[in-house]
Amino acid sequence: AVERTLSIIKPDAVGKNIIGKIYSRFESNGLQIVAAKMLRLSDVVAGGFYAEHRERPFFKDLVEFMTSGPVVVQVLEGEDAIAKNRELMGATNPQEAAEGTIRADFASSIDANAVHGSDSPESAAREIAYFFAASEICER
Ligand code: CMP
Repeated sequence: AVERTLSIIKPDAVGKNIIGKIYSRFESNGLQIVAAKMLRLSDVVAGGFYAEHRERPFFKDLVEFMTSGPVVVQVLEGEDAIAKNRELMGATNPQEAAEGTIRADFASSIDANAVHGSDSPESAAREIAYFFAASEICER
């Protein structure tokens, strides 16, 4: 089915000037960008986004990293977009990411892992609404 998923290009990848390379991976694999913005996350916004990880030992470092520089947030649309995006990203830890994935090619550590993608239809709905009003998502 055609789905939408939330994607974030993290501060490490924005800093490396590879926004376009990552967008190319999406576009050449059947995902369309239907909403996009660049922004600098505050502690409150980053912490709220990752609320499910609040009790995890890596939460503080995660928020610190995600607020360390600008991010680019987008909604991707396409057939099986949630799973397709996760396949394109590769494993959370770049050392375990399959060859040819975004994280294998561009990420350096489990924190600085270049991209985030929603992991289920429920999280996609929550995460898209967290960053975008319905009026900011464009029919293609
Ligand atoms: P992301 O998909 O954005 O979701 C939560 C992030 O926490 C994850 O990518 C990683 O960048 C970061 N993280 C750091 N340590 C861990 C860990 N041990 N397990 C999962 N995620 C981690």
